[in-house]
Order: sequence, then structure tokens, then C-alpha cells
Amino acid sequence: MHFRSLAGALLLCGPAFAAPAKDRCPAGPSVPTPDSLGTLQTLKYNYLKAENNGTAAVLVHDRLSNSKAQGRCAAVGEKLYPFQTVPDANRTELVYQLDYLVYAKDLRPDDDVWVAGAGDDCLVYSGSQKQAIYASCDLELPAICTARVPPTTDVDRTVVASSKISVRSNDYTLTGYRDARSFRFLGVPFADSPVGELRLAPPRAYSGPKTIDATKLGDSCIQSASGFGASQDISEDCLYLNVFTPVLPGHAHQANRPVAVYFFGGAFTSGTASIIDYDGGNFASRNDVVVVTVNYRLGALGFLATGNLTTGSYGIRDQILALEWVQQHIAAFGGDPTRVNIFGQSAGGQSVIAVLSSSAARGLFSGALVQSAPVDLPWYTREVYSELVVPHVAEAVGCANATSTENSLLSCLRSVPATNFVDNSTAFQTAMSAVARDVGSDYLHVSQLLASIEPLMPMVDDSGSGVIDDQFHTLLATNRLPNRVPTMFTTVTDEAALYISQFIPDLGSSQSGLNTLLGIAFPSQLAQSLINTTAFPTDPAQNDSVRIIGAQALTHSEWTCPQAYLLRNAGSASFPTLYEVEITDGHTQTNSSSIPDICSPNPTYNATCHANDVLPAWGTLNSKTLNVDPYYNTNDILHSQLLNDVFGAFFRSHNPNPDTNMLRLRGPAYASTYQIFGENGYEINQHDPVEQTLALLGMPPSMAQNPGMSEKCLVFEDYGFTFENARFSA
Ligand SMILES: *[C@@H]1O[C@H](CO)[C@@H](O)[C@H](O)[C@H]1NC(C)=O
Ligand SMILES: *[C@@H]1O[C@H](CO)[C@@H](O)[C@H](O)[C@H]1NC(C)=O
Ligand SMILES: *[C@@H]1O[C@H](CO)[C@@H](O)[C@H](O)[C@H]1NC(C)=O
Ligand SMILES: *[C@@H]1O[C@H](CO)[C@@H](O)[C@H](O)[C@H]1NC(C)=O
Ligand SMILES: *[C@@H]1O[C@H](CO)[C@@H](O)[C@H](O)[C@H]1NC(C)=O
Ligand SMILES: *[C@@H]1O[C@H](CO)[C@@H](O)[C@H](O)[C@H]1NC(C)=O
Ligand SMILES: *[C@@H]1O[C@H](CO)[C@@H](O)[C@H](O)[C@H]1NC(C)=O
Ligand SMILES: *[C@@H]1O[C@H](CO)[C@@H](O)[C@H](O)[C@H]1NC(C)=O
Ligand SMILES: *[C@@H]1O[C@H](CO)[C@@H](O)[C@H](O)[C@H]1NC(C)=O
Repeated sequence: MHFRSLAGALLLCGPAFAAPAKDRCPAGPSVPTPDSLGTLQTLKYNYLKAENNGTAAVLVHDRLSNSKAQGRCAAVGEKLYPFQTVPDANRTELVYQLDYLVYAKDLRPDDDVWVAGAGDDCLVYSGSQKQAIYASCDLELPAICTARVPPTTDVDRTVVASSKISVRSNDYTLTGYRDARSFRFLGVPFADSPVGELRLAPPRAYSGPKTIDATKLGDSCIQSASGFGASQDISEDCLYLNVFTPVLPGHAHQANRPVAVYFFGGAFTSGTASIIDYDGGNFASRNDVVVVTVNYRLGALGFLATGNLTTGSYGIRDQILALEWVQQHIAAFGGDPTRVNIFGQSAGGQSVIAVLSSSAARGLFSGALVQSAPVDLPWYTREVYSELVVPHVAEAVGCANATSTENSLLSCLRSVPATNFVDNSTAFQTAMSAVARDVGSDYLHVSQLLASIEPLMPMVDDSGSGVIDDQFHTLLATNRLPNRVPTMFTTVTDEAALYISQFIPDLGSSQSGLNTLLGIAFPSQLAQSLINTTAFPTDPAQNDSVRIIGAQALTHSEWTCPQAYLLRNAGSASFPTLYEVEITDGHTQTNSSSIPDICSPNPTYNATCHANDVLPAWGTLNSKTLNVDPYYNTNDILHSQLLNDVFGAFFRSHNPNPDTNMLRLRGPAYASTYQIFGENGYEINQHDPVEQTLALLGMPPSMAQNPGMSEKCLVFEDYGFTFENARFSA
């Protein structure tokens, strides 16, 4: 009996060849679909506050009689919204949402919608009269249902069974669920597990069973523990994505929301789409966008090229395959496939640049947002991998005796355990230091310190595969960027303070201390030029000045100056619309021992460190409670509202300045952003090569001197950026 039912379950769930490890059993036959429910929309009035106190509801778009509307609410585990009996605050917030729905053309100005009345009386909220009135129960109208499901946080990932919903798209049936902020479809496989012959190979579109329990996150790509990454549920079988959407379109209805696809950061060696930091529910509810977060392969398994038999850049190819999945399926989740934006921070920002630079990604997206990409660092080449990287990695993973031919090496690399490639063993750490040393001296011509930041990079493919056509600066200089879409670049004020204060002890405030630090961070001639200029003076009154100014130099060399240089010289030719902004203030992404004190409020210097923009922009300070203070003060909430609204505006219209009419009619949760853009007339201007200022998005926002033509950047321009000096010279 047990055996029989087990066999039945196996047949039902289809653990076919190469089936992923994740439990693929569907949620059962009772889960409804948008086909039977019509279009459903989550309404969450979202202040991005830790209390999560905004009113939540569900809009049923189908026009139904009152009794059928009640049945429809019941079908998703809810009931008609008790408009008359809730506190005034809830009613007010719901009306702001209804006004927005009219603005967004989801409702007509004169639409009435069912809400709950007392007893048998049928009540509507009247759009034209702006109040609840009684109506004939036979009218066929949209309806507002309750949303009695919790918001997701790092400590509460409750899946309320009655909120589950199954979406069919082509051959996929994905059972996700609804929380207080959005519909969510988690752990969706888009590629076959990259194991065996698919290790160190381009990803293959998912071919396993397509009836999927999408209520659980997929595994993160194998990596060692880190503050930004995963410490559990990691495996080589990790090519999953997550979809967060405010609307699920029913039959014959198109929702057409803008889509934002995210590539996480982590130096190409760590990170995951699964952390609460990148939960798309806040973007979905506050700014009405469909968010997709994507896992991609990391470390040597993500990027090692062996010679002529492998392509390299597997992680970037994973991202492009995910974008193909989005093209095929996102309409079923309310997204508009012609309005797909890509965005990412740090290595995720570099990933966005890699995808912009890949002709294989043509037509897959129409907007790009690059956060804090260290654009000074060029991609690797095939030669760099085979000459400078492969020998060290082969030895570390136990394949040193298989290097006589590329074929034998590749079969060895594909057969050793995946854990051999993780950068936490002594053998692998030794290999990575050797790679940083050799790549630093024989390719990048930079310090080992700098080369060790990202020892395993995507590479330019010279074989014509179209995944990274050429170096970014070359594509710009020769006017060959294959994807020319509206693009916004952001940096934060003190990118490098994170690294300098983490790795370098307090050196006080003396000029000699700074000279020592510059000598460690930069090649000697550049260090000497920096010392000779007065561009980076120490401040004797600031007791940690050496590290603060040293970090400023590194921020300028890796982020600010090369970005300003590239955009000044080729931005307007390569991007139809271009914005460049600097973000200041912010909040650390995690409070772990790897994040120095300087990145959080302190009495010495409040640095806006690398990654301090992530939680505010995502609005996920309200979802993250472990290892992070939710907010330092109320200013953080307003800053978070500002960044979320600026990003949302860019995703919607490729203009980061939100529509002030929309902000005004959305009420108090948007009042701070409205005051900035509406009342104070603040504006983020398009990039202008001769403009001397750029938008500084702090709270409140202001304008900053554009550093691009300052004395600080001149030193680096004169010496030449790393991408200009890089050449293989072993
Ligand atoms: C009304 O708002 C309060 C505070 O945000 C919330 O806890 C409650 O669930 C809301 N009630 C309804 C029915 O929306
Ligand atoms: C949520 O909190 C804000 C203050 O931050 C308040 O104005 C609003 O009325 C609250 N919403 C509800 C539903 O209680
Ligand atoms: C390194 O990380 C992998 C994957 O997390 C783990 O299996 C292994 O035990 C770790 N090794 C060490 C030496 O910590
Ligand atoms: C790749 O091919 C080139 C040209 O045929 C050859 O010179 C080179 O040695 C090959 N590299 C490897 C690692 O086999
Ligand atoms: C390489 O050495 C390992 C043990 O260190 C052994 O398991 C493996 O079979 C060897 N491979 C070849 C190709 O000799
Ligand atoms: C720095 O200044 C010294 C003394 O004026 C000079 O000899 C040296 O050439 C300068 N070096 C650089 C790299 O500018
Ligand atoms: C540096 O100055 C700050 C206040 O400006 C003080 O809180 C801190 O203790 C000082 N640090 C040292 C090492 O003296
Ligand atoms: C850093 O921010 C905190 C909180 O806003 C403030 O109390 C502190 O004075 C600031 N530190 C400096 C050096 O400005
Ligand atoms: C970070 O964590 C440490 C202990 O784990 C705690 O003492 C400190 O207050 C925390 N800082 C912030 C800003 O959350």
C-alpha cells in the first residue's frame, strides 16, 4: 500500500532524468488558477515601515454579482472587505489605492466596487461619489476582498494555504502564493541542473517536470558562507528564479506591468537571489512593478574557462537564459515582455554591463540600471584564464595530474566534487592568492590587493558566441555596444570604505600613514602621483583620516572616475537616455563582523559604504530583522521611499523622476517623495558631458560636484585606468 502510493506520487510528480533535488510535487488539485478567478490584484498601501501597518486588500477585476463576488473572495481564502466597520485609517488608505487604480487605468473613474455591507444589504464603494452606498445586489461589479495574509520577513515566511494560486504559462504550471504585499512564485527552475557535462558549460533551458511547487526558494549556488550570501541550502543545482507580482491576469486580460530583473552582487563568488534583502514584494506593492530575481553560477564553477573547449562566463549565460525565460513567461504573471529592465548592484552591476555588452542578449530587455559597478576592472580573456588561472585552480581541486590535454583536464574538472571549488579550503585560498598575484602582475598591472577583489571574472568571448562581445570601454570607444537602451548608473559616496576599514587597521591621520596605504593599494608610480598631488589630503583633525582618505582614493579609482570618464566620452552616443547619480546615506545590508563600524552611524565618520543602497532601494528594511537594525531613524524610511520611488519611476518610464501627479494622489505614504519632486521641484537631470553637477540622492537629496573633471579624477586619467593598462604579458 505504502509502496503503491509512493509509486503513484512518483509518477505524478515525475522525477525525470536530471530532475532537480527540490521537491517538485504540485500543491494538489484544489489550487485555483487565474483562469477560474479572473484578474486579481494585490493592494498594499506600503510606507516601507518596519511596522508594515499599511492596509492590504485584493481587487477582483471580474465584474460579478454581489453573491458571486463573495464566492470569488472565498475562493482565495478571503471575504468582501468590511469597508464600513474598519478604522478610518484603513478606509482612507484603501481609497488612496482605489484612486491610484483609476490613475493606472485598472479602474474607471465612475466604477463602483463591491465591499462588505451589514447583513444582507449590498454595499459598493462608489468611485464617482467617493463614498460607500447601497446598491442592487444583481449589479455586476469588481470587488474588494480582504487580504488576511502576513507580510513576508526573514523570520516569517508563512505560506497561507488558501492563498495558493497556480499559473499556467506554456508548459509550466507554477503554484505560488500571496502574502500581504504581492503574489510570489519562488524557486522556478529556468535551466537544467548545471552538473556533469553541463558543469563549465553554457546552461540548457529547463527540460524537467514543469508542474512546480513554487512556494519554496530554490537552492543558492554553491559558495562559502558570507554576510551577503547563503550559509545553507546551497548546491550546484541552483538555477532558479523568483517572481513577485502585484497582479495576475485572468483570461483575455493583459496586465502589462513593467518588469525589473535583478542580478545580485557578491564579487562573482557569493550571493543569492534567496535572501530577504531582494524580496520583490515592496517594489511590487509600492511601485507596481513585476520583479524577478535570478540565481547565477558563482566562483570557478561560474566563470572558469579552460582553453578552447569551454566558453567561460557561465554565470552571465545563466542570466541571459533567465531573460529568455522572462520573455516567454512573464506575461502570464502580469509583466510586459517589451518593458523588461535589468538591474544589479556591485558584481550584479557588472553583470548588467556584461549583458549590455552581449549581442546574444539582443531584444531581451529595454532598460538597464547599473548600481556600484567597479568599471575600472576589465573582463578576463581566454588567455588570462588558461595561462594565469587554470593551473592554480586545477591544482586546488585535485586535477593537477590531468593537465596533459584540455580534454582530460575538463573531464577531471567535471568529475571532482563541487565542494572542491569553494573558496573556503586552504588549497583553494592558496590558489586564489596565486591567481590574484599573477593576474595582478601579468594582466591587470595592479596591486595584488586590487586583483584579489574579484579573482574570477566573466570573460570576453572571441569565438563569436555573443556573450560579452568585447571590453565595455572598447565597445563604447568604437561605438559597437550591442544593446543600446535607456540606462542609469549609480554609485555610493564611500564605496571602498567597506574594504579599507575591513582589511586595514586604523592608521591614524598622518600623511606618512596615507602614503603607506596608497603604496599598498596602487602601483608605485600611481601611488607616487597621488602623493605628489594634493587631491587626497589627510585631515589631522579626523583621527581615522588615513583610512577615510585612502578609501576615497580607491572609490575614485575603481568606481567614480572610470565611470565618469566612460560616460563623458561615449555615453551620449551609446545610450539613448542616460542618467548618472550618486547615492548617499543608506544602511548596511547586514550587521556582521565583516562590515566595519564606519558603515553604520558612528561618532567618527558616517560612510555610505558599498551596498548601503541595497536595502533602502528595495525597501526591505521592513522585512529584515536578523543581523541588522531595521532603521537608524525615521530619515531612513523617507530615504528608502525616495530610492524605491526613483528606481520604480525608472523601471516604468526610463525616467527616474516620478510622475508628481501620481505621487500626490497616492497620499501620505508618498508625501515625502512628492514634497521633493513636486513641491521643491527637485529634478534628476539626464547625463550631460559638460555638466559640473550630478544628483546626490541623500535624504534630503541635493546636487553634488561631478567628480569626473576634478583634480581627484585627473590623477587616475593621467595614469590610465586599469582597463586601459591591462594587457596579457606573461
Ligand atoms: C487596518 O490597519 C491595521 C494597521 O495597519 C491592520 O493591522 C489591520 O489589519 C487593517 N485591517 C484591515 C481590515 O485592513
Ligand atoms: C500607519 O502608520 C502611519 C504613520 O506612520 C499612520 O499615519 C497610518 O494611519 C497608519 N495606518 C493604519 C492603517 O493604521
Ligand atoms: C566549504 O564550504 C562548503 C560549502 O558550503 C562546505 O561543504 C565545506 O564543508 C566547507 N569547507 C570548509 C573547510 O569549511
Ligand atoms: C587553443 O587553440 C590555439 C590555436 O589552435 C592553440 O594555440 C592553443 O594552444 C589552444 N589552447 C589550449 C589550452 O589548448
Ligand atoms: C589524479 O590524482 C587523483 C588523486 O590525487 C586520482 O584520484 C586521479 O585518478 C588522478 N587522475 C589522473 C588523470 O591520473
Ligand atoms: C613626484 O614628485 C617628485 C618630487 O617633486 C618627483 O621627483 C617625481 O617625479 C614625482 N613623481 C610622480 C610620479 O609624479
Ligand atoms: C576618534 O574621534 C571620535 C570622535 O570624533 C571618537 O569617538 C573616537 O573615540 C576617536 N578614536 C580614537 C581612536 O581616538
Ligand atoms: C552619524 O550619524 C548619527 C546618526 O544620525 C549621528 O548621531 C552622528 O553624529 C553622525 N556622525 C558623524 C561623524 O557625523
Ligand atoms: C551589530 O551587532 C553587534 C553585536 O552583534 C551589536 O553590538 C551592534 O549594536 C550592532 N550594530 C548595529 C548598527 O546594528
